Amino acid sequence: MSTLHIMDHPLIAHKLTIMRDKETGSKDFRQLLNEIAMLMGYELTRDLPLEDVVIETPICKSTQKMIQGKKLAIVPILRAGLGMVDGLLSLMPVAKVGHIGMYRDPETHNPVEYYSKMPADIEERIVILVDPMLATGGSASDALTMLKNKYHCTNIRFMCLVACPEGVARVQKDHPDVDIYTAAMDEKLNEHAYIVPGLGDAGDRIFGTL
Ligand code: PRP
Ligand code: URA
Repeated sequence: MSTLHIMDHPLIAHKLTIMRDKETGSKDFRQLLNEIAMLMGYELTRDLPLEDVVIETPICKSTQKMIQGKKLAIVPILRAGLGMVDGLLSLMPVAKVGHIGMYRDPETHNPVEYYSKMPADIEERIVILVDPMLATGGSASDALTMLKNKYHCTNIRFMCLVACPEGVARVQKDHPDVDIYTAAMDEKLNEHAYIVPGLGDAGDRIFGTL
């Protein structure tokens, strides 16, 4: 079974509360989402393997630590996942970025895939799949299946902003090898498969398409 990491740092909790408020507009919503993504990225990369390197300071030769050869890729699920990319890139500026296009069918709530494009060497990279909302878990689960089956990724972690028990259960059942990182674990889904209390439609709030 994968591990669920709930990152309830006070700074993250404070910023998320402002995002949840329906009076918060797109500009602030986008900025807060990127700030939280950066704070979460700091914790999500805590276990990256390090290696010894010899450098020369102005004083002497010295053995110090650097992140081992493994390279990173950030993969947002479109559209809303795009809102977390810049925050992560500010921490990991040399990471490559792949994209997976998916939307939920409004009737069935099942994900429909419409686009994907990955860096050529994606299978050699540590992949951070990002999407603010983990609702039914269908989109995250299908995106993870695509990363494994079509792009041969073997080292993936999933980062979201708001999760709920149904989505976590679905991803953990379908992908027991993928750790989940979230800023909050909400109560439940409503009859339209929206997270309660949640923050509404993340894509619409980011891009002002309400
Ligand atoms: C939202 C969200 C996730 C998905 C989560 O995307 O960004 O991708 O729903 O729901 P699930 O866990 O039930 O699959 P949406 O379909 O609204 O597309 P958008 O980002 O293009 O607005
Ligand atoms: N997608 C969203 O953007 N919000 C939800 O609450 C559920 C799915």
